[in-house]
Amino acid sequence: MSRLLNGIVAVCPDRGIGRRGELPWHPVRLANEFKHFRRMTSTPSVKDKQNVVIMGRRTWFSIPEKNRPLNNRINIVLSRVLRAPPAGAHHLAPDFNSALKLVDVDLADRADQVWVIGGSSLYKDLMESPGTKRLFVTQILNQFDCDTFLPEISAARYRLLPQFPGVPSELQTENGIQYRFEVYESFEQ
Ligand SMILES: NC(=O)c1ccc[n+]([C@@H]2O[C@H](COP(=O)([O-])OP(=O)(O)OC[C@H]3O[C@@H](n4cnc5c(N)ncnc54)[C@H](OP(=O)(O)O)[C@@H]3O)[C@@H](O)[C@H]2O)c1
Repeated sequence: MSRLLNGIVAVCPDRGIGRRGELPWHPVRLANEFKHFRRMTSTPSVKDKQNVVIMGRRTWFSIPEKNRPLNNRINIVLSRVLRAPPAGAHHLAPDFNSALKLVDVDLADRADQVWVIGGSSLYKDLMESPGTKRLFVTQILNQFDCDTFLPEISAARYRLLPQFPGVPSELQTENGIQYRFEVYESFEQ
């Protein structure tokens, strides 16, 4: 069964998403951008179910300890090395397909939307997986030094939606940083 998969990322003009295990604009906080992330990933479309967030091991450890696991969401961490979920995580998976299988089989009765929240290779797995995908991209208009990057969003496989319910389309400014929210959808069904 192929389900709709969502990804969410905030990205600099050079497609940078991280630096030294933090967000590129660290220590500046983008509180409203973070609220957007929380609202999108936490809000299930079905009552009595929770959304799932899937992330790589480094993204898990980039979340401040007091905020782990991300609340009101089922947290799945990917690692080829770990043999048990890191403290606080709900589930561990050895690869992306195993994580999706976990959602569709073991968690089927309580999991709603699936959200891939990084890092680089997880976004690549998402973009290349079959079925319909939606990418919720915050385009940060200021450039920061980055060492981790988002794979290119292929224009042949994704289109930018003119608008999306609940996602503001106007330019945002926070702490001197400008950004806009975009939503891309894959052509394949
Ligand atoms: N701007 C944003 O929206 C955003 C979002 C997320 C993260 N970030 C930033 O990005 C950086 C972290 O991302 P990252 O790309 O460096 O690392 P990452 O993808 O979060 O973690 C990499 C690790 O995850 C595991 N992993 C990844 N893909 C896997 C797969 N297909 N199967 C099994 N295990 C897999 C491996 O763990 P093992 O080594 O244990 O095998 C790998 O070493 C941080 O700077 C973070 O702040 C930014």
